[in-house]
Amino acid sequence: MTVRKPFVGGNWKMNTTAATAAQLAVDVACGCDDLLGRADVAVFPPFPYLDTVGKHLGNGVRLGAQDLYHEAEGAFTGEVSAGMLIDVGVGVVLVGHSERRHVIGEGDELINCKARAALGAGLDIILCIGETIEQREAGQTQQVNVGQLMAGLEAVAADQMPRVTIAYEPVWAIGTGRTATPDDAQAVHAVIRSTLADRYDGAVAESTRIQYGGSVKANNAQSLFAEPDIDGGLIGGASLKADDFVTIVTAAAQASS
Ligand code: PGA
Repeated sequence: MTVRKPFVGGNWKMNTTAATAAQLAVDVACGCDDLLGRADVAVFPPFPYLDTVGKHLGNGVRLGAQDLYHEAEGAFTGEVSAGMLIDVGVGVVLVGHSERRHVIGEGDELINCKARAALGAGLDIILCIGETIEQREAGQTQQVNVGQLMAGLEAVAADQMPRVTIAYEPVWAIGTGRTATPDDAQAVHAVIRSTLADRYDGAVAESTRIQYGGSVKANNAQSLFAEPDIDGGLIGGASLKADDFVTIVTAAAQASS
């Protein structure tokens, strides 16, 4: 059986200032220092602070970006390319976050273009998927997640999958304080893993990390990470407080040992 190293991401969204981002980076880097052997950690600051945050993180905690555009350069006002992210030290990028899907209006096709562009440029990706409350109540949870997974990974080859993490983030749990129960989350994670086995093979399915996201907090991380198919988390609100975030990373590190 493959042992997957847990992966915890801190998605800072449109929060922090230059000064608070730098301080948060220092505190997270310091707090996670001893845990990095047992858990991978990345933070995802707003674009303008990537460079500063990268300099304050040092070499252990990875620098991530919240989004990218799939073209390499040109007349795309307001957009940021994979090459630009790599230039400032980014190693991993979110694609298809629910706020990109549901607030900004990105669809599966664009998200797949972004996934392929990021991977093609050498970035790792976290592909985010998840159902809305209406879809869950209509019994469409499995269908929606499988659909977003398959569409997001269209034309992504098996040999690129070591650089892909999936984040299952039920939309109704993001920023709401409502968390999926460990059992509910595990059930969807198991479906995601078996879909990866069908789409690729058993080895890809066993080695791909699947994070849970949606109101993960210092006091519920341990029970979520204890589930067999939950390999860490993507953390929003609680990643803005270094102490809470480090407690969550500690829970992930303990789940792996
Ligand atoms: P939350 O956000 O932890 O604030 O619910 C999670 C996410 O959007 O990645």
